[in-house]
Amino acid sequence: MSKYTIVMVRHGESEWNQLNLFCGWYDANLSDKGKTEAAQAGKAVKDAGLKFDIAHTSLLTRAQETLKAILKEIGQEDIPIQKTWRLNERHYGGLTGMNKAETAAKYGEEQVQIWRRSFDVPPPAMEPDHKYYNTIVKDPRYADGPKPEEFPKFESLKLTIERTLPYWNDTIIPQLKEGKKIIIAAHGNSLRGIVKHLDQMSNDQIMGLNLPTGIPFIYELDENFKPVVSMKFLGDEETVKAAMAAVAAQGKAK
Ligand code: 3PG
Repeated sequence: MSKYTIVMVRHGESEWNQLNLFCGWYDANLSDKGKTEAAQAGKAVKDAGLKFDIAHTSLLTRAQETLKAILKEIGQEDIPIQKTWRLNERHYGGLTGMNKAETAAKYGEEQVQIWRRSFDVPPPAMEPDHKYYNTIVKDPRYADGPKPEEFPKFESLKLTIERTLPYWNDTIIPQLKEGKKIIIAAHGNSLRGIVKHLDQMSNDQIMGLNLPTGIPFIYELDENFKPVVSMKFLGDEETVKAAMAAVAAQGKAK
């Protein structure tokens, strides 16, 4: 029997999604399309009659703006919002800022697929001479964490899960137990990590999952936090399928 309901959403399209660039911890803004997607996500949440006591998001603008647009749409801008680097996108290391299709043309689609979707093969590290190294490492938003020794220079999905799951277990679960209604606005890969954990997907199964931008999805969980309803998107099936296929295709050479 379902005991807990939680809503999650990947941010709307970012300016770097639009340009098809590896983004990771670079703080890209929402594109105009992404802002529209975020507002539509809010409408979908409203139509589903969902209300929240607390919201969680990453330290990145694209997720925070998506959350704000949703809360505005449902008239709940005043609820507490907890922000954490643990919900940030996976750190794309040295690939950050590179065009995905051009990278596929240069290194092969298979290699790009490994970098994007393998469970434990990380991208190359972001070295100190990388164009965005200082922008990210010295960003004051990270003053309270991660600690210098845990500050990532690259992340596989496995490493992403290792820093996202403690937040799920130590912050989200206790709030669910208190009966709080929760929404999480985060990123393609931090949410893939949570989904993999909840649905106990194998390392191979998670490779095939591409989360669309700006379409909220619901999990209903039993008293042991096992899904009774998994990843129920607030959108029609065809639209969701097409949006997932579009994300998968970002790694194809043009
Ligand atoms: C990024 O960080 O580039 C995207 O938001 C997620 O990228 P992916 O779908 O290539 O993993």
